[in-house]
Amino acid sequence: MQSEKAALISASPIRLSIVVPTFNEAFNVPELLRRLNDVLGCEGWEVIFVDDDSPDQTARVVREIARTDCRVRCLQRIGRRGLSSACIEGMLASSAENIAVMDGDLQHDETILPAMLKKIEQGGADLVVGTRYAGGGSVGEWDESRKAMSRLATKAGRAVLRQSVSDPMSGFFMLKRAILDSTVRRLSGLGYKILLDILATAPSRLQVAEVPFRFRGRNAGESKLDTMVIWEFGMLLADKKFGRYLPVRFLAFSIVGGLGVLVHMAVLGALLKGLELSFVISQSAAAATAMVSNFGINNILTYRDRRLKGPAWIRGLFTFMLACSIGALANVGIASYLFSSRTQWMLAGLAGILVGAVWNYVITQLYTWGKSG
Ligand code: GDD
Ligand code: MN
Repeated sequence: MQSEKAALISASPIRLSIVVPTFNEAFNVPELLRRLNDVLGCEGWEVIFVDDDSPDQTARVVREIARTDCRVRCLQRIGRRGLSSACIEGMLASSAENIAVMDGDLQHDETILPAMLKKIEQGGADLVVGTRYAGGGSVGEWDESRKAMSRLATKAGRAVLRQSVSDPMSGFFMLKRAILDSTVRRLSGLGYKILLDILATAPSRLQVAEVPFRFRGRNAGESKLDTMVIWEFGMLLADKKFGRYLPVRFLAFSIVGGLGVLVHMAVLGALLKGLELSFVISQSAAAATAMVSNFGINNILTYRDRRLKGPAWIRGLFTFMLACSIGALANVGIASYLFSSRTQWMLAGLAGILVGAVWNYVITQLYTWGKSG
């Protein structure tokens, strides 16, 4: 028994786990593994690819390699998207005391991994950032507008941090598992900026070291970051600033609800005054339009990471409209009750709105977009 157990223990334990989030990187995976092998040698590390069910079959490519290489693993997530949450789940699935996170498209310079590991293992750092904004680091071939965007985001990011880091937006870093353990339960997991999330969540000042690198051009495929990253980044910053008091999703949901009032009024005005339809018909059509537009916008913004598509979209719209109709009844019921028991009309109205909004938020989170959190 004892000897059987011993046989399972590898000669050299794993010192480093590398987490690589992927979405449509099938073409880049084999090359990345070749390079990791060149830089790190054949033992002492593992790599976990976290793939969000890429249509280009990235997960299949990883599994094919993993079948003959036990250093490689694939974590495939279905019906979910998100770079930060992928990194968190990959880190949690890893085993080593030190964890690196890097992109799967070869833009991160793997040759600095040994220098990063050395800084941690020699006790000089809890967390090492691969930086493009210090020492000899650079953003490489970016155009002016992307450079300006990145600089602006870096400034905004620094505003939620207690310590100075030259590149808090970097997607390339290494940390001790203890840092993950002390932050993981309070991470937002929203959007793309997992490093910023960790730095802003850490309970005490971390010992942060930096290793410069030059951000390479993309090898194959294309960037998944679109203009919506600005929205996701805003959600992350808001969550770090006041997420303790108010869930940012509720905030987003309420803003969308406010927009719905404008949509409602515009449609009501157009039908009633423009087409001279009856008030009941105009008001009903306005309410229905506002619900559809609220559902659509929430699906794109508030629940971006759990976006419904195709038949699920139709089902979602149905549960959303049902929930909101009950919410409207609760709204009117509570407000009328308060009003009849001598509450001032504005307060009664606001209380109704608040109860309706919370109801809509909680119920649609559970039944329309699937789960709590
Ligand atoms: N699992 C998963 N899910 N992976 C994703 C997702 C997702 O929703 N979106 C992107 N990825 C993977 C990509 O396949 C790639 O390996 C890595 O995450 C980075 O995505 P890119 O689309 O290549 O991002 P980028 O090059 O535009 O942005 C990089 O630079 C930013 C700094 O300017 C990333 O490193 C960002 O994290 C970084 O903030
Ligand atoms: Mn990239």
